[in-house]
Amino acid sequence: MADVLNPPSLLSARYLLAFDTSRLTVHESDVLVVGSGIAGLTAALHASQDFSVSLLTKGELAETNTWYAQGGIAGAVGEADSSELHLADTLVVGQGLCDERVVRAVVTEAAAALDALQGFGVRFDLADSGGVALAREGGHTLPRVLHSGDKTGAAIQQALTSALIDRGRIPVFEHRFLVDVLTGPDGRCVGALVLDQIAGRLEAHLARAVVLATGGSGQAFSVTTNPLIATGDGVAAAWRAGAHVTDLEFVQFHPTALDHASAPRFLVSEALRGEGAYLLDCDMQRFMIDIHPLAELAPRDVVSREIERVMARCGRSNVWLDARHLGESYLRSRFPAIWKGCAEAGYDLSRDLIPVAPAAHYQVGGVVVDIDGRSSISGLYASGEVAATGLHGANRLASNSLLEGLVFSRRIARALAHEITPAQKPAALVADADMVVGPSDITTDPATAIAALHDLTGSYVGMTRTAEGLARASDGIDQLARGLSPSTSLPVLEAANLITVASLLTRGALVREESRGCHSRLDFEDRDDEHWRGHVVMCRERAPWFEPLTAAPQTPDSQPDIGRD
Ligand code: FAD
Ligand code: SIN
Repeated sequence: MADVLNPPSLLSARYLLAFDTSRLTVHESDVLVVGSGIAGLTAALHASQDFSVSLLTKGELAETNTWYAQGGIAGAVGEADSSELHLADTLVVGQGLCDERVVRAVVTEAAAALDALQGFGVRFDLADSGGVALAREGGHTLPRVLHSGDKTGAAIQQALTSALIDRGRIPVFEHRFLVDVLTGPDGRCVGALVLDQIAGRLEAHLARAVVLATGGSGQAFSVTTNPLIATGDGVAAAWRAGAHVTDLEFVQFHPTALDHASAPRFLVSEALRGEGAYLLDCDMQRFMIDIHPLAELAPRDVVSREIERVMARCGRSNVWLDARHLGESYLRSRFPAIWKGCAEAGYDLSRDLIPVAPAAHYQVGGVVVDIDGRSSISGLYASGEVAATGLHGANRLASNSLLEGLVFSRRIARALAHEITPAQKPAALVADADMVVGPSDITTDPATAIAALHDLTGSYVGMTRTAEGLARASDGIDQLARGLSPSTSLPVLEAANLITVASLLTRGALVREESRGCHSRLDFEDRDDEHWRGHVVMCRERAPWFEPLTAAPQTPDSQPDIGRD
């Protein structure tokens, strides 16, 4: 037994809390799905055709990032479009790090997956011609985004939730928090350690396969578009279990969140720019025209970084979005939720310039999975924002996220149909003092720890980084990790996971000495394919390592020169 006088720290322990499954309430199913956004609901619906499935989620079913998705879901379904063009745009935006085989699978399966989504009851807006209406967003060279007004995510969430409830045979556990992934003596995933938040008790959910669909980690930053559930729990739990994680240094900042005291920041969808809205600087000039051929619809990393530069030049905390020329009746009917959100903050979209600024929006990296969603731990799968599938490379193409969750969860369900074998019920699992985080002498309350974390990520791990800043952040995060004593309090567990994910992303950002996609280093300003065309991979038991890509560099590497009027 290890020396319990030196118990593991938050950043080295296998489990957050001690447990003995023989003393816990145990639930069993073939497949346990964790998370109720597009990835979790799709996995549960499809896997339930062959297996007993249970689904757990830490809040109520609709408390997801998916609910807030505005712009829509990408798919090459238009007449002028093709999966080759969708592939090309995804590769360009991904800046040399996409896995072309994965991109090809996702873009070619998009049409069938979108049909199935409509089969579950999602209604997309129609064009006057009767076909589905397609919008344009950043990085897409033509209109390709299916949408339900400006509340596409809510439409998807509602339809999939109704389908799940109608099936009636998938037990749903709300207010259940995944604490840790359980593994047996052979290292195989056998279920999850879960906190029943209502009863305040731990329980075990045993399964032959676990699908993590826990979303992202935007709450690691104070300025974020992500709701409160986005605390990186799935990445942290998988990492503690020994899974490989990668690409966490790539944090996508959305260019146009409303610059307002709301938390999370209200998003003003890129689809508005797709319909012709402009970005203006403090001299009322369109500054993106000289920066990129796609102007305001350049890839997000390009637009967000330029906004940051303009804000510094102008000495302001925002730039302006100008949609006035689109007219009140059009704006009200095409963007009703954004109209309302702006009005609640005191802005009239048809008369006022809207103050916008970048906000942390999307976790590009996550748990490493293969093309069928298998993680490096046997029996553990991941889909959606929690996963690093290889689709996004160093930067995600707009509206490819909902698509990724949809396609990968279908692929996981197909893989499970061949892979799940009757397994022996694991003997009781026990985590004692040598495996769990030890008590701390300098206990920090979670709200104070999160405020300190936000200071560090905001100052040093944001859109532009340096070695010195990252080293400071890393030291500060280590100190925060030492001050947290895990307990069955939800805020403490979430703080522990946010600190863990922030530590991993900071380490990744320190290792990657170049600028590419969403990772920008002031001390290494250029993209460096010779040394950094590959992934920084991490797992709990080893120092970070670099996995170079062996496939030839992808083409194309820049967008066709399609400008805007
Ligand atoms: P989520 O939808 O975030 O669901 C995660 C689920 O896991 C939730 O149910 C959560 O409660 C649960 N969970 C988390 N931790 C635990 C735990 N410890 N225990 C139990 N349950 C847990 N993408 C697009 O493609 N198009 C868009 O138009 C778009 N617009 C966006 C607008 C906004 C404002 C935001 C924030 C994001 C947007 N995105 C968009 C990104 C996209 O919404 C997300 O990447 C996507 O919805 C993620 O889906 P998911 O199923 O992986 O995770
Ligand atoms: C948006 O509507 O601008 C968000 C789209 C996305 O995150 O893909």
